[in-house]
Amino acid sequence: MLFKASFTILLAALGELALGHPGEKHDRRMALQEANMRHAFANVNSQALSKCDSAPEIQQRKERAMKRRLATFHRLRAERGITDDTPHLHRRNAAQFAKWAATSHDRTGTLAFTPSTPTSEIFGANSTCILTPDNIIGPYYVLGSQIRRNITESLPGIPLHLEIQFVDVRTCTPQPALFIDLWQCNAAGVYSGVSAAGQGGLKSTFLRGVQQSDADGVVAFDTLFPGHYQGRATHQHITVHVGAKQLANNTYAGGAVTHISQLFFDQALIDKVEATAPYSANRVARTPNARDGYTGYAATAAYDPFPEYVLLDARDLSKGVFMWLEVAFDPRVDYGQYATVAAVVGPDGGRDNPGFNLGKAVTPPPTHG
Ligand SMILES: *[C@@H]1O[C@H](CO)[C@@H](O)[C@H](O)[C@H]1NC(C)=O
Ligand SMILES: *[C@@H]1O[C@H](CO)[C@@H](O)[C@H](O)[C@H]1NC(C)=O
Ligand SMILES: *[C@@H]1O[C@H](CO)[C@@H](O)[C@H](O)[C@H]1NC(C)=O
Repeated sequence: MLFKASFTILLAALGELALGHPGEKHDRRMALQEANMRHAFANVNSQALSKCDSAPEIQQRKERAMKRRLATFHRLRAERGITDDTPHLHRRNAAQFAKWAATSHDRTGTLAFTPSTPTSEIFGANSTCILTPDNIIGPYYVLGSQIRRNITESLPGIPLHLEIQFVDVRTCTPQPALFIDLWQCNAAGVYSGVSAAGQGGLKSTFLRGVQQSDADGVVAFDTLFPGHYQGRATHQHITVHVGAKQLANNTYAGGAVTHISQLFFDQALIDKVEATAPYSANRVARTPNARDGYTGYAATAAYDPFPEYVLLDARDLSKGVFMWLEVAFDPRVDYGQYATVAAVVGPDGGRDNPGFNLGKAVTPPPTHG
Protein backbone atom coordinates (compact mmCIF):
# COMPACT_ATOMS: atom_id res chain seq x y z
CA MET A 1 0.00 0.00 0.00
CA LEU A 2 1.34 3.33 -1.09
CA PHE A 3 0.93 5.28 2.14
CA LYS A 4 1.73 2.59 4.62
CA ALA A 5 4.30 4.50 6.65
CA SER A 6 2.02 7.39 7.45
CA PHE A 7 -0.76 4.94 8.16
CA THR A 8 1.15 3.45 11.08
CA ILE A 9 1.79 6.87 12.56
CA LEU A 10 -1.85 7.75 12.17
CA LEU A 11 -2.85 4.55 13.90
CA ALA A 12 -0.90 5.61 16.96
CA ALA A 13 -2.23 9.16 16.83
CA LEU A 14 -5.82 8.10 16.39
CA GLY A 15 -5.72 5.57 19.21
CA GLU A 16 -6.76 8.26 21.66
CA LEU A 17 -9.54 9.61 19.51
CA ALA A 18 -12.08 7.00 20.42
CA LEU A 19 -12.58 8.99 23.62
CA GLY A 20 -13.36 12.19 21.71
CA HIS A 21 -17.08 12.17 22.29
CA PRO A 22 -18.44 10.04 25.12
CA GLY A 23 -21.07 7.73 23.73
CA GLU A 24 -19.79 8.11 20.20
CA LYS A 25 -19.79 4.90 18.17
CA HIS A 26 -18.07 6.20 15.07
CA ASP A 27 -16.35 3.24 13.47
CA ARG A 28 -12.67 3.63 14.17
CA ARG A 29 -11.36 1.64 11.27
CA MET A 30 -13.38 3.73 8.87
CA ALA A 31 -12.01 6.85 10.53
CA LEU A 32 -8.47 5.61 10.05
CA GLN A 33 -9.05 4.83 6.43
CA GLU A 34 -10.55 8.18 5.70
CA ALA A 35 -7.83 10.06 7.56
CA ASN A 36 -5.17 8.20 5.69
CA MET A 37 -6.76 8.83 2.35
CA ARG A 38 -7.15 12.53 3.00
CA HIS A 39 -3.58 12.78 4.20
CA ALA A 40 -2.44 11.45 0.85
CA PHE A 41 -4.71 13.87 -1.01
CA ALA A 42 -3.49 16.83 0.98
CA ASN A 43 0.15 16.16 0.20
CA VAL A 44 -0.57 15.92 -3.50
CA ASN A 45 -2.68 19.05 -3.34
CA SER A 46 -0.06 21.11 -1.55
CA GLN A 47 2.38 20.44 -4.34
CA ALA A 48 -0.17 21.59 -6.88
CA LEU A 49 -0.81 24.69 -4.81
CA SER A 50 2.79 25.85 -4.68
CA LYS A 51 2.98 25.81 -8.49
CA CYS A 52 0.41 28.53 -9.04
CA ASP A 53 1.57 30.80 -6.24
CA SER A 54 3.50 33.28 -8.36
CA ALA A 55 0.93 33.84 -11.14
CA PRO A 56 0.06 37.56 -11.54
CA GLU A 57 -3.68 37.04 -11.11
CA ILE A 58 -2.99 35.18 -7.87
CA GLN A 59 -0.89 38.06 -6.61
CA GLN A 60 -3.78 40.39 -7.48
CA ARG A 61 -6.23 38.19 -5.64
CA LYS A 62 -3.97 38.22 -2.59
CA GLU A 63 -3.72 41.97 -2.81
CA ARG A 64 -7.53 42.20 -2.85
CA ALA A 65 -7.73 39.80 0.07
CA MET A 66 -5.31 41.91 2.07
CA LYS A 67 -7.33 45.08 1.44
CA ARG A 68 -10.57 43.29 2.25
CA ARG A 69 -9.20 42.01 5.56
CA LEU A 70 -7.88 45.40 6.48
CA ALA A 71 -11.27 46.97 5.69
CA THR A 72 -13.04 44.28 7.71
CA PHE A 73 -10.72 44.85 10.64
CA HIS A 74 -11.50 48.59 10.62
CA ARG A 75 -15.23 47.97 10.16
CA LEU A 76 -15.44 45.50 13.05
CA ARG A 77 -13.54 47.90 15.31
CA ALA A 78 -15.68 50.87 14.28
CA GLU A 79 -18.90 48.90 14.90
CA ARG A 80 -17.69 48.18 18.41
CA GLY A 81 -16.43 51.69 19.09
CA ILE A 82 -12.83 50.52 19.50
CA THR A 83 -10.27 53.26 19.08
CA ASP A 84 -7.38 51.86 21.07
CA ASP A 85 -4.27 51.59 18.90
CA THR A 86 -1.83 49.64 21.03
CA PRO A 87 -0.09 46.73 19.32
CA HIS A 88 -2.31 43.82 18.48
CA LEU A 89 -1.68 40.20 18.97
CA HIS A 90 -1.00 38.56 15.67
CA ARG A 91 -0.13 34.98 15.17
CA ARG A 92 3.03 35.34 13.16
CA ASN A 93 4.71 37.31 10.44
CA ALA A 94 6.11 35.92 7.23
CA ALA A 95 9.38 34.92 8.89
CA GLN A 96 7.62 33.02 11.62
CA PHE A 97 5.48 31.29 9.07
CA ALA A 98 8.56 30.23 7.14
CA LYS A 99 9.97 28.82 10.35
CA TRP A 100 6.76 26.94 11.03
CA ALA A 101 6.74 25.56 7.52
CA ALA A 102 10.30 24.37 7.95
CA THR A 103 9.91 22.78 11.36
CA SER A 104 6.23 21.91 11.46
CA HIS A 105 5.73 22.54 15.18
CA ASP A 106 5.81 26.24 15.94
CA ARG A 107 2.15 26.75 16.74
CA THR A 108 2.35 29.18 19.57
CA GLY A 109 4.27 32.19 18.26
CA THR A 110 2.67 35.55 18.70
CA LEU A 111 3.91 38.90 17.59
CA ALA A 112 3.28 42.38 18.80
CA PHE A 113 3.07 44.74 15.90
CA THR A 114 2.96 48.50 16.02
CA PRO A 115 0.79 50.87 14.00
CA SER A 116 3.77 51.35 11.70
CA THR A 117 4.00 47.65 10.82
CA PRO A 118 3.14 47.32 7.11
CA THR A 119 -0.38 45.98 6.67
CA SER A 120 0.97 43.35 4.31
CA GLU A 121 2.75 41.83 7.30
CA ILE A 122 -0.55 41.58 9.13
CA PHE A 123 -3.18 40.87 6.50
CA GLY A 124 -1.08 39.68 3.60
CA ALA A 125 0.11 37.78 1.62
CA ASN A 126 2.47 34.84 1.76
CA SER A 127 1.02 33.42 4.91
CA THR A 128 -2.44 33.11 3.40
CA CYS A 129 -2.30 30.65 0.52
CA ILE A 130 -2.40 27.77 2.89
CA LEU A 131 -3.80 24.34 2.51
CA THR A 132 -6.02 22.96 5.17
CA PRO A 133 -6.15 19.21 4.90
CA ASP A 134 -9.32 17.33 4.41
CA ASN A 135 -10.07 16.10 7.87
CA ILE A 136 -12.49 13.86 9.71
CA ILE A 137 -16.05 15.13 9.90
CA GLY A 138 -16.70 14.10 13.49
CA PRO A 139 -19.95 12.80 14.91
CA TYR A 140 -22.05 15.98 14.94
CA TYR A 141 -22.58 17.08 11.35
CA VAL A 142 -26.19 18.15 10.86
CA LEU A 143 -27.69 18.55 7.41
CA GLY A 144 -30.19 21.33 6.76
CA SER A 145 -28.84 24.19 8.90
CA GLN A 146 -30.03 27.71 8.13
CA ILE A 147 -28.14 30.03 5.82
CA ARG A 148 -27.10 32.82 8.18
CA ARG A 149 -23.93 34.69 9.00
CA ASN A 150 -24.53 35.23 12.69
CA ILE A 151 -24.77 31.88 14.46
CA THR A 152 -24.28 33.05 18.06
CA GLU A 153 -27.97 33.16 19.14
CA SER A 154 -26.97 35.52 21.99
CA LEU A 155 -24.86 32.89 23.75
CA PRO A 156 -22.05 34.18 25.96
CA GLY A 157 -18.44 33.95 24.81
CA ILE A 158 -15.68 35.75 22.95
CA PRO A 159 -17.04 37.08 19.62
CA LEU A 160 -15.27 35.65 16.62
CA HIS A 161 -15.56 37.07 13.11
CA LEU A 162 -14.27 34.31 10.85
CA GLU A 163 -13.50 34.95 7.20
CA ILE A 164 -12.52 32.09 4.92
CA GLN A 165 -11.50 32.34 1.29
CA PHE A 166 -11.83 29.20 -0.81
CA VAL A 167 -9.60 28.62 -3.81
CA ASP A 168 -9.11 25.80 -6.26
CA VAL A 169 -6.01 23.88 -5.22
CA ARG A 170 -4.87 23.37 -8.81
CA THR A 171 -5.47 26.84 -10.23
CA CYS A 172 -5.60 28.97 -7.05
CA THR A 173 -8.69 30.71 -8.47
CA PRO A 174 -11.42 31.78 -6.02
CA GLN A 175 -14.46 29.51 -5.91
CA PRO A 176 -17.80 31.34 -5.83
CA ALA A 177 -21.26 29.87 -5.06
CA LEU A 178 -20.00 27.26 -2.59
CA PHE A 179 -22.16 26.43 0.38
CA ILE A 180 -20.06 26.30 3.54
CA ASP A 181 -21.37 24.66 6.71
CA LEU A 182 -19.75 25.76 9.96
CA TRP A 183 -20.44 24.05 13.29
CA GLN A 184 -18.75 24.09 16.66
CA CYS A 185 -19.39 23.69 20.38
CA ASN A 186 -20.36 26.51 22.74
CA ALA A 187 -18.25 27.88 25.60
CA ALA A 188 -19.28 24.88 27.73
CA GLY A 189 -18.22 22.37 25.08
CA VAL A 190 -21.76 21.49 23.95
CA TYR A 191 -22.97 21.05 20.36
CA SER A 192 -26.46 21.90 19.18
CA GLY A 193 -28.61 19.87 16.83
CA VAL A 194 -27.81 16.34 17.97
CA SER A 195 -29.50 13.96 20.38
CA ALA A 196 -26.28 12.51 21.83
CA ALA A 197 -26.10 12.59 25.63
CA GLY A 198 -24.88 15.88 27.05
CA GLN A 199 -25.39 17.84 23.80
CA GLY A 200 -27.98 20.49 23.01
CA GLY A 201 -30.69 18.24 21.55
CA LEU A 202 -32.35 18.01 18.16
CA LYS A 203 -34.31 21.26 18.51
CA SER A 204 -31.27 23.44 19.20
CA THR A 205 -29.41 25.24 16.39
CA PHE A 206 -26.82 27.42 18.13
CA LEU A 207 -23.39 27.81 16.54
CA ARG A 208 -24.39 26.17 13.29
CA GLY A 209 -24.93 27.91 10.00
CA VAL A 210 -24.29 28.04 6.30
CA GLN A 211 -22.89 30.79 4.08
CA GLN A 212 -22.49 30.98 0.32
CA SER A 213 -19.14 32.11 -1.06
CA ASP A 214 -19.06 35.38 -3.02
CA ALA A 215 -17.29 36.15 -6.30
CA ASP A 216 -13.93 36.10 -4.49
CA GLY A 217 -14.69 32.75 -2.88
CA VAL A 218 -15.15 34.40 0.50
CA VAL A 219 -17.56 33.60 3.32
CA ALA A 220 -17.76 35.21 6.75
CA PHE A 221 -19.41 34.06 9.95
CA ASP A 222 -20.12 35.89 13.17
CA THR A 223 -19.64 33.25 15.81
CA LEU A 224 -18.00 32.71 19.20
CA PHE A 225 -14.65 31.28 20.05
CA PRO A 226 -15.40 27.59 20.72
CA GLY A 227 -15.02 26.00 24.14
CA HIS A 228 -13.63 22.54 24.73
CA TYR A 229 -14.68 19.02 25.65
CA GLN A 230 -12.99 15.79 26.59
CA GLY A 231 -10.23 14.45 24.39
CA ARG A 232 -10.15 17.13 21.69
CA ALA A 233 -8.27 20.36 21.20
CA THR A 234 -10.41 23.45 20.57
CA HIS A 235 -11.67 23.36 16.98
CA GLN A 236 -14.41 24.18 14.49
CA HIS A 237 -15.78 22.07 11.65
CA ILE A 238 -16.47 23.06 8.06
CA THR A 239 -17.73 21.30 4.99
CA VAL A 240 -17.77 22.67 1.46
CA HIS A 241 -20.57 21.85 -1.00
CA VAL A 242 -20.07 22.48 -4.71
CA GLY A 243 -23.03 22.67 -7.07
CA ALA A 244 -25.70 22.91 -4.37
CA LYS A 245 -28.82 25.08 -4.73
CA GLN A 246 -30.38 27.48 -2.28
CA LEU A 247 -33.96 26.54 -1.31
CA ALA A 248 -36.87 28.82 -0.50
CA ASN A 249 -36.63 27.98 3.21
CA ASN A 250 -33.09 29.32 3.52
CA THR A 251 -31.28 26.00 3.36
CA TYR A 252 -29.45 24.35 0.48
CA ALA A 253 -29.70 20.98 -1.22
CA GLY A 254 -27.80 18.83 -3.67
CA GLY A 255 -24.22 19.22 -4.84
CA ALA A 256 -21.11 17.34 -3.79
CA VAL A 257 -19.06 17.50 -0.59
CA THR A 258 -15.64 18.55 -1.82
CA HIS A 259 -13.97 19.46 1.43
CA ILE A 260 -14.26 18.48 5.09
CA SER A 261 -11.98 20.04 7.64
CA GLN A 262 -11.38 21.25 11.14
CA LEU A 263 -9.89 24.59 12.06
CA PHE A 264 -7.57 24.82 15.04
CA PHE A 265 -6.34 27.80 17.02
CA ASP A 266 -3.08 28.97 18.46
CA GLN A 267 -2.57 27.53 21.91
CA ALA A 268 -1.72 30.97 23.29
CA LEU A 269 -5.08 32.32 22.14
CA ILE A 270 -6.97 29.29 23.46
CA ASP A 271 -5.29 29.72 26.84
CA LYS A 272 -6.31 33.38 26.98
CA VAL A 273 -9.91 32.62 26.07
CA GLU A 274 -10.20 29.67 28.45
CA ALA A 275 -9.09 31.90 31.32
CA THR A 276 -12.22 34.05 30.88
CA ALA A 277 -15.83 33.38 31.88
CA PRO A 278 -17.84 31.44 30.86
CA TYR A 279 -15.14 29.21 29.35
CA SER A 280 -13.34 28.93 32.69
CA ALA A 281 -16.42 27.33 34.27
CA ASN A 282 -15.90 24.23 32.12
CA ARG A 283 -13.90 21.89 34.38
CA VAL A 284 -13.39 19.15 31.77
CA ALA A 285 -9.65 18.63 31.29
CA ARG A 286 -8.37 20.45 28.24
CA THR A 287 -6.47 18.78 25.40
CA PRO A 288 -3.75 21.01 23.98
CA ASN A 289 -3.13 21.13 20.24
CA ALA A 290 0.01 19.07 20.66
CA ARG A 291 -1.94 16.15 22.12
CA ASP A 292 -4.86 16.17 19.69
CA GLY A 293 -4.59 13.41 17.11
CA TYR A 294 -6.20 15.46 14.38
CA THR A 295 -3.86 18.44 14.68
CA GLY A 296 -1.02 15.97 14.93
CA TYR A 297 -1.52 14.84 11.41
CA ALA A 298 -2.91 18.13 10.14
CA ALA A 299 0.01 20.38 10.98
CA THR A 300 2.84 19.10 8.89
CA ALA A 301 5.04 21.30 6.77
CA ALA A 302 2.56 20.83 3.94
CA TYR A 303 -0.36 22.56 5.53
CA ASP A 304 -1.49 24.84 8.27
CA PRO A 305 -4.87 24.46 9.96
CA PHE A 306 -4.43 27.53 12.17
CA PRO A 307 -6.21 30.65 10.97
CA GLU A 308 -4.44 33.99 11.24
CA TYR A 309 -6.00 36.44 13.66
CA VAL A 310 -5.94 39.82 15.32
CA LEU A 311 -7.66 40.88 18.50
CA LEU A 312 -10.07 43.71 17.69
CA ASP A 313 -8.96 45.48 20.84
CA ALA A 314 -5.49 44.46 21.93
CA ARG A 315 -6.26 45.30 25.55
CA ASP A 316 -9.66 43.70 25.74
CA LEU A 317 -10.14 40.17 24.51
CA SER A 318 -13.87 40.35 25.22
CA LYS A 319 -14.31 42.77 22.28
CA GLY A 320 -13.60 39.87 19.97
CA VAL A 321 -11.24 38.33 17.47
CA PHE A 322 -11.03 38.71 13.69
CA MET A 323 -9.69 35.54 12.13
CA TRP A 324 -9.09 34.60 8.52
CA LEU A 325 -7.65 31.86 6.45
CA GLU A 326 -7.49 30.64 2.93
CA VAL A 327 -8.52 27.09 2.16
CA ALA A 328 -7.36 25.41 -1.00
CA PHE A 329 -9.41 22.38 -1.98
CA ASP A 330 -10.18 20.30 -5.02
CA PRO A 331 -13.68 21.12 -6.32
CA ARG A 332 -13.62 18.01 -8.51
CA VAL A 333 -13.66 15.43 -5.71
CA ASP A 334 -16.69 14.12 -3.84
CA TYR A 335 -16.22 13.18 -0.21
CA GLY A 336 -19.95 12.62 0.26
CA GLN A 337 -19.44 9.10 1.56
CA TYR A 338 -17.36 10.51 4.44
CA ALA A 339 -19.79 13.27 5.32
CA THR A 340 -21.62 11.23 7.91
CA VAL A 341 -24.72 13.05 9.06
CA ALA A 342 -25.81 12.76 12.70
CA ALA A 343 -29.18 14.45 12.12
CA VAL A 344 -31.23 16.17 9.43
CA VAL A 345 -33.22 19.35 10.07
CA GLY A 346 -36.75 19.47 8.67
CA PRO A 347 -39.73 21.77 9.16
CA ASP A 348 -40.39 20.22 12.58
CA GLY A 349 -36.80 20.43 13.77
CA GLY A 350 -34.05 17.85 13.63
CA ARG A 351 -34.32 14.11 13.48
CA ASP A 352 -31.59 11.53 14.01
CA ASN A 353 -30.03 9.77 11.07
CA PRO A 354 -30.86 6.17 12.08
CA GLY A 355 -27.92 4.80 10.08
CA PHE A 356 -25.29 7.00 11.72
CA ASN A 357 -24.08 4.79 14.56
CA LEU A 358 -23.95 1.81 12.25
CA GLY A 359 -21.28 3.55 10.20
CA LYS A 360 -23.71 4.27 7.34
CA ALA A 361 -22.64 7.37 5.55
CA VAL A 362 -25.18 9.92 4.48
CA THR A 363 -28.91 10.20 4.68
CA PRO A 364 -29.53 11.36 1.12
CA PRO A 365 -30.05 15.12 1.10
CA PRO A 366 -33.25 16.53 -0.40
CA THR A 367 -32.90 16.23 -4.16
CA HIS A 368 -35.23 18.89 -5.51
CA GLY A 369 -35.25 22.67 -5.33
C1 LIG B 1 6.18 37.35 -0.02
O1 LIG B 1 7.11 36.64 -0.79
C2 LIG B 1 7.77 37.41 -1.75
C3 LIG B 1 8.62 36.47 -2.59
O2 LIG B 1 9.07 35.38 -1.85
C4 LIG B 1 8.59 38.49 -1.04
O3 LIG B 1 9.24 39.31 -1.98
C5 LIG B 1 7.62 39.34 -0.19
O4 LIG B 1 8.34 40.28 0.56
C6 LIG B 1 6.84 38.47 0.75
N1 LIG B 1 5.81 39.27 1.41
C7 LIG B 1 5.63 39.26 2.72
C8 LIG B 1 4.54 40.08 3.26
O5 LIG B 1 6.34 38.63 3.48
C1 LIG C 1 -25.34 38.23 16.51
O1 LIG C 1 -26.65 38.02 17.00
C2 LIG C 1 -26.78 38.23 18.40
C3 LIG C 1 -28.18 37.81 18.80
O2 LIG C 1 -29.13 38.23 17.90
C4 LIG C 1 -26.47 39.68 18.72
O3 LIG C 1 -26.56 39.90 20.10
C5 LIG C 1 -25.04 39.97 18.27
O4 LIG C 1 -24.74 41.33 18.46
C6 LIG C 1 -24.87 39.64 16.79
N1 LIG C 1 -23.46 39.77 16.46
C7 LIG C 1 -23.03 40.49 15.43
C8 LIG C 1 -21.55 40.55 15.23
O5 LIG C 1 -23.78 41.04 14.66
C1 LIG D 1 -36.45 23.04 3.46
O1 LIG D 1 -37.01 22.63 2.24
C2 LIG D 1 -36.60 21.34 1.81
C3 LIG D 1 -37.22 21.11 0.44
O2 LIG D 1 -38.58 21.28 0.47
C4 LIG D 1 -37.07 20.31 2.84
O3 LIG D 1 -36.69 19.02 2.43
C5 LIG D 1 -36.43 20.64 4.17
O4 LIG D 1 -36.90 19.75 5.17
C6 LIG D 1 -36.76 22.06 4.58
N1 LIG D 1 -36.00 22.41 5.77
C7 LIG D 1 -36.53 23.02 6.81
C8 LIG D 1 -35.63 23.35 7.93
O5 LIG D 1 -37.70 23.32 6.86
